[in-house]
Amino acid sequence: MTALTSMSFAETDIDKIADHVGRVAVMIDAEGKMNPGARRINKLTKGALERLVQSTQFTDLKPGDVLSMGYPTGMAAEAVDVVQLANNAGVHDLRKAGANLAKRRGTADVMVLTGGLRKAAELCFGLAMRDYTFEDNKSNGKPRKGAVTVMSSAPDDLKAAAAPLLAIAEGAFMTRDLTNEPANVLTTTEFANRLSEMKSIGLDVEVLDEAQLETLGMRTLLSVGQGSDSPSYVVVMTWNGGEKDAAPLALVGKGVVFDTGGISLKPGAGMEDMTMDMGGAGVVAGVMRSLALRKAKANVVGLVGIVENMPSGNATRPGDVIKTMKGDTVEVINTDAEGRLVLCDVMWYAQERFKPAGMIDLATLTGAIVVSLGAENAGVFSNNDPLCNAFLKAAEAENEGAWRMPMGKGYDDLLKSRIADMKNIGGRMGGAVTAAQFLGRFVKDETPWIHLDIAGVASVKSETALAPTGATGWGVAALNRLISDNFEGE
Ligand code: BES
Ligand code: MN
Ligand code: ZN
Repeated sequence: MTALTSMSFAETDIDKIADHVGRVAVMIDAEGKMNPGARRINKLTKGALERLVQSTQFTDLKPGDVLSMGYPTGMAAEAVDVVQLANNAGVHDLRKAGANLAKRRGTADVMVLTGGLRKAAELCFGLAMRDYTFEDNKSNGKPRKGAVTVMSSAPDDLKAAAAPLLAIAEGAFMTRDLTNEPANVLTTTEFANRLSEMKSIGLDVEVLDEAQLETLGMRTLLSVGQGSDSPSYVVVMTWNGGEKDAAPLALVGKGVVFDTGGISLKPGAGMEDMTMDMGGAGVVAGVMRSLALRKAKANVVGLVGIVENMPSGNATRPGDVIKTMKGDTVEVINTDAEGRLVLCDVMWYAQERFKPAGMIDLATLTGAIVVSLGAENAGVFSNNDPLCNAFLKAAEAENEGAWRMPMGKGYDDLLKSRIADMKNIGGRMGGAVTAAQFLGRFVKDETPWIHLDIAGVASVKSETALAPTGATGWGVAALNRLISDNFEGE
C-alpha cells in the first residue's frame, strides 16, 4: 500500500534552517511581509529572498502558488520554496499550497516553516494528498521518500488539528491504490483480503462467499460474476463509534474488479480502463478506513459487492431473466449494464439487515454520466432533499465536484419489460438517469438515499487539485465531512 508522507511537527527553530538538507518552504503574503523564518533565509542568502519577493514573478503569483529558489548560497538546501500565502488564507488556497510543495519535493526532506499561518493543518492535508504516486508494480521499487518536518509555534495543536485530516488522506490513499491496481493483482479474493486486513484498525469485517450469497438470494449479483473464474463476494465493514442503538448510515459500493461487458462485450479500445470499475467499492473502503483511523463518533456500515464481469460458457446471456434478492425479476438486455445488477442486491440486503438511517451508493455506473458531466462532477441522484443537500454542501466544502441530476416516472417507465418486472437498461437516452431509476426500485420508501455515479471522477486523465493522474479518491473527503457534520455526536 502507498504510505502517507511521514510528517512530524516541531517547535519553530530558525537556527536549523541553514543546515537543512533538502527543501525549505516558507510563506510570504502578497505584500511581501517577511516572518522570522523568511528574514533568516533572506539574511543567509544575502538578500536573495527579498529580491525574489520584489520581482514581478512573485507579485504575479496567486495565493498558494510557489516560486522556487534553487541551490541558494548560504544554505545547505537544494531549494527554498517560496509560497505566496497570507496568514489567514482560505482552506483551498492552503491545500493548493501544500499540493504545490508536494509536486516539487521529489524525494527530498522538506522543512515547512509555517510561521504565523492559521489553519496550517490544511496545508499539511494538501501536501499529504498530493504526495502520492502508485508504484506498487514498478520493478525498481519505490524511491525512498524523505520526511516532512512542519515547524510551528504551536506544534502540538497543529499535530492535533492535522490528525483527522491525515486520516482522511490515508483513506483516500487506500481508495486510490485499490482503484489503480490492475485486475490480475486486485482479483476479487485479493480485494476481500485487503478489506479484511482493516480488522487491524478496529473495523468489523465480514466476508460473505458465494454459498452465503446464494442462500440470501442475491441472484442478480451472482449472475454478473458467474462468467468469471474468480468467486464473487459481498464484504460488510462495520464501524460503531456512535450511540449504541442509533441506526447506521449505509455506504454501498460497486466493486467490479474488471468489466469486459460480459457477453455484450465492450470494444477493445480503452477496455483497460475498466480496471477502475471497482472505484465505488474503493471509496467505501477508503471512507471506512478514515472513520476508523479518526475514531469517528458515528455508526456507519460499508457494504461492497465484489465481482468480475467476464464472458464465458457459463456467463449470463442477453435475454436471461434473473430474480433479485428483493424478489423482482430482471430481463438482462445488456450484460454490460452489470453494476446495477450488483448494487440492487447489496442495497436490498443493506436495508433488510441494518435498517439504515440513510443509504448512499457509489458506482462507476454509466458512460452516460461521463458524457453529461465529464471529469468535473459526479452525478448525484436522490429521493431525499435534506440528505442530498447535506451531501452537496459537504462536497462543495471539500472541492469535490457533485451535481444533482433529475429522477422521475417518465424515466422509470423506460425500464418496462415485456416478459419480466423490468429490463436492466432503458435505452441510450438519459442513460445515467435510467440507471439511477433502476437502483431506485430497490430503495424502500422510508430510506433516505443518494446514488453517486462516479464513472467520470473516480480515475482521471489529467491531474486534479489534490491528485495526480489516475485514481483520485474522489468522495472520501466529502463523505467524511457529511458524516462528521450530520451523523456524529459530540
Ligand atoms: N462500468 C461501466 C461504466 C463506465 C463507463 C465506467 C466509463 C467508467 C467509465 C458500466 O458497467 C457500463 O458498461 N455501462 C454501460 C451501460 C449501458 C450498457 C446501458 C455504458 O455506460 O455504456
Ligand atoms: Mn459494464
Ligand atoms: Zn461496469
